[in-house]
Amino acid sequence: MKYSALRGMKDILPDEINIWQHIEEKAREIFEIFNFREIRTPILEQAELFLRSIGEDTDIVEKEMYVFNDKKGRKVALRPEGTASVVRAYIQNSLFNAPSPQKFYYIGPMFRYERPQKGRFRQFHQIGVESFGVSSPEVEAELLLLLKKFFESLKIVELSFEINSIGCKICRPLYKEGLYKFLGERVSNLCFDCQRRFKKNPLRVIDCKVPSCREILSDIPLMIDFLCENCRKHFSDFQKKLELYEIPYKVNPKIVRGLDYYTGTVFEVTTHALGAQNAVAAGGRYDELVELFGGPSTPAAGFAIGIERLVELLDKKLVLQLQKPLIFLAHAGEALEREVLNLSSRLRDNSFIVERAYENLSLKAQLKRADRLKAKWVIIVGEEEIKKSLYKWKKMSDGTQGEATLDEIISIMKEQE
Ligand code: HAM
Repeated sequence: MKYSALRGMKDILPDEINIWQHIEEKAREIFEIFNFREIRTPILEQAELFLRSIGEDTDIVEKEMYVFNDKKGRKVALRPEGTASVVRAYIQNSLFNAPSPQKFYYIGPMFRYERPQKGRFRQFHQIGVESFGVSSPEVEAELLLLLKKFFESLKIVELSFEINSIGCKICRPLYKEGLYKFLGERVSNLCFDCQRRFKKNPLRVIDCKVPSCREILSDIPLMIDFLCENCRKHFSDFQKKLELYEIPYKVNPKIVRGLDYYTGTVFEVTTHALGAQNAVAAGGRYDELVELFGGPSTPAAGFAIGIERLVELLDKKLVLQLQKPLIFLAHAGEALEREVLNLSSRLRDNSFIVERAYENLSLKAQLKRADRLKAKWVIIVGEEEIKKSLYKWKKMSDGTQGEATLDEIISIMKEQE
């Protein structure tokens, strides 16, 4: 084979696509009843948009972005996530003039040049939401409620909702000072990555997975113990709302997130079923980003779900059952083309999926083809059948068959769907 898809990128084939469509349909259905409206932004953006929002010293910007110069020498990037683009669109289109909250969702591909492994791709897909204009913790609580409802609709259970607060521009600098001092005394014993992070982004040292670092850092100071009065109250009110909404959660003071724009609340939805890449969704509040991009000061929060990881978690059998059955119209040659067309239209008008032989094949060959296509039903259209307006039908799975008018056949098939 001469060509193959790039490493970390994959085809989603028709046999799998109805699982994706099912996930996307559920997302649209549920997000829209919470008044989130769809937004579609370009896949290619100015690279600087991500540099400034996600942060120059983060793994995503430092190592993982697909960046290149366009024909005019402008530095552009394939979007590694959706939040920065939605914030840009919100400001560029003056959406802040509409009444708050403004709530958006998006579904689409993202690109990160990561080392591919199970659950981690270079082109992956997210379903994300962003909510602008309201600073109270009801917003984050609603986001978790939305996630819970969405996962329930897909029958995905056993998820863990983990929350934390990473403070604001008032309390975080103080905390960082303490953290810096603590790490400074231990840095020479930490792993190479942590030594690098210590200089550039010390918060990321907290979630290092290397066992020796974990041991050295077991009593690392945590942001949650340094929150200012406002952040503490917000975080505690948030938890009260979660209790009110009956969303089980766990405070995990070690969640720091790999993107710099967060302020205050952050959260992750994780599961043991996914192995090392255990986060199926993640998000938080980012109250300073709109202003950083030149818009009016606007509180905001959101999350994104990784679709590939969701597909892994889904009971595929359950979804495949939702697939509409295929009906194969077996016919006796070209002379009956008009009748085949009529019957196909009537069946399609009733939302059945119809297939036929396009060339002249014997009845036996057509039945064989119906079998190979996994048709659930075969309807036979021959001269005799047309004259009597009675068609032979056969249910392929158990061989039951009969003769009936098309309306009767439609009712039989609908009953057994
Ligand atoms: P994130 O944590 O970088 O957040 O990504 C969110 C989710 O996308 C992850 O939990 C994971 O399920 C999925 N994901 C990330 N990278 C990959 C990958 N390489 N392969 C497969 N799946 C992946 C964000 O992107 C933020 N924009 C979320 C957000 C929205 N925060 C506020 N609003």
